[in-house]
Amino acid sequence: ALFPIGPTAPRGYAAGSPERTSTAKALDDIRAAGCDVPNLIGGGVVRTGRLMPVVTPHEHAYRLGQVHRAGQEETIRAIEAATAASAWWGRLPWEDRAAPFLRAADMLEHGPWRDRLNAATMLELSKTTYQADIDAACETVDFIRANVKNMLDMYDVQPGSLPGMWNQAEYRPLEGFVFAVTPFNFTCMNNLAFAPAVLGNTVVWKPAESASLVAHMSMELLREAGLPDGVINVVYGDGPEIGAVALGHRDLAAVHFTGSTATFQHIWHTVGANVASYRNYPRLIGETGGKDFILAHPSADLDALAVACVRGAYEYQGQKCSAASRLYAPRSLWPALKERLIALTESVVVGDPTDPETFVGAVINARQHAKHAEALARARAEKLVVVGGRTDDSLGWFVDPTVLEVDDPTSPFMTQELFAPVLTTYVYDDSAWAQVLRLVDESTSYGLTGAVFAADPAAVMQAEHALRYTAGNFYVNDKPTGSVVGQQPFGGARASGTNDKAGTVWNLIRFSSPRSIKRNH
Ligand code: SER
Repeated sequence: ALFPIGPTAPRGYAAGSPERTSTAKALDDIRAAGCDVPNLIGGGVVRTGRLMPVVTPHEHAYRLGQVHRAGQEETIRAIEAATAASAWWGRLPWEDRAAPFLRAADMLEHGPWRDRLNAATMLELSKTTYQADIDAACETVDFIRANVKNMLDMYDVQPGSLPGMWNQAEYRPLEGFVFAVTPFNFTCMNNLAFAPAVLGNTVVWKPAESASLVAHMSMELLREAGLPDGVINVVYGDGPEIGAVALGHRDLAAVHFTGSTATFQHIWHTVGANVASYRNYPRLIGETGGKDFILAHPSADLDALAVACVRGAYEYQGQKCSAASRLYAPRSLWPALKERLIALTESVVVGDPTDPETFVGAVINARQHAKHAEALARARAEKLVVVGGRTDDSLGWFVDPTVLEVDDPTSPFMTQELFAPVLTTYVYDDSAWAQVLRLVDESTSYGLTGAVFAADPAAVMQAEHALRYTAGNFYVNDKPTGSVVGQQPFGGARASGTNDKAGTVWNLIRFSSPRSIKRNH
């Protein structure tokens, strides 16, 4: 008998429930209204007429609307609007800066905005109802509230004083503008623009092209909640063109980035090449790729392990930077684990994510789909497929949930990030636990997430010790995805990023340039 692999829709989402009805209405409303997404510069909407379509990945012929691409001129205007707003925004009392964000969080938690942003996330990113709600609604609300709490915690850290001498740390926002670059895969990552702004910074924000509608809607929400003009300025379109202007500007104060390793390295090179031209050394805060592992010990609980593999690898089509994509299984467990993985994978519903039964939607675009199709064709040719292994782009960009098995632990399927619902397995001899720990650590350049499954406490301790730098988020007997703000601060080191832990005070502090003031009196 199969055991549950976890929800496809949020709690209370039964047929006929108010939640289901209101989500369905929000989906219909977005489809009926379409969208025309302008740039937002100094509070003014800027339509360039250079258009790119907003596509629905699971039905790629369907156009939700269009986005106006920005170029050099609009990017310069956005930088000017941000630097102009920094003259007053960063000097407001913290309560005034926090208020619009906290109001937006309340509006998102209770009311029509939750359905609207969830529906846009389902349609534009191809997230299931459950994945959309934990991202666009829950995690966005958590991030916004955490930003305010973290800001106050930071302000509380003050130096010592003496009688007649009062020392103070003044947490100034950075001088200049913050360049926020957000990925397609999480609507809540719009927080890369929000977090620095709460602290008094002003922002030029470049969202991923395939997440333009959700960025636009987030800004509509913030504006309705009272965010003043010019604090966050949004430019859509071509990364290299917009990036060249922003990274070349004297007032660049920080880059807050989530996306590919190659793009972050390009940003780092560009900032290095321009370093003498800036007013301040820009802060570089980035979260990039991963090749995240599940390591099973012979003492692991098989059912929990199988569910973690399926959820960790397939949720949101494997397009989480935290997604499980390499599995190390002991030979003694493999036959029973394989049987479970095949049964669970075959039970997963692939299709339209707005259908509450669907577990796996479509991948984000044609380019990614073509890459996955090529990789899976190779896997089929090499006879690596345990289950799944096909792709289909006739209606949407679908990739089968897939388990592969390789003999060579250095195979590209074990070492290179794919961003697809594909889990590659290497089966090791039970007696080779020490060797497999080394293999898990040394196989990739990344350091983002990973999980060890073991009932034996000694094995857990050995894994924690041996894999100290292999994962910035390390899970024991749980899947490596689904970090919760305030519970498992998220981020990794090595080639996975600067590990400035999203949603924490450690992250926020990178957007402040403290001033020490000594006052004798
Ligand atoms: N925070 C997400 C997770 O843990 C990934 O960005 O899955």
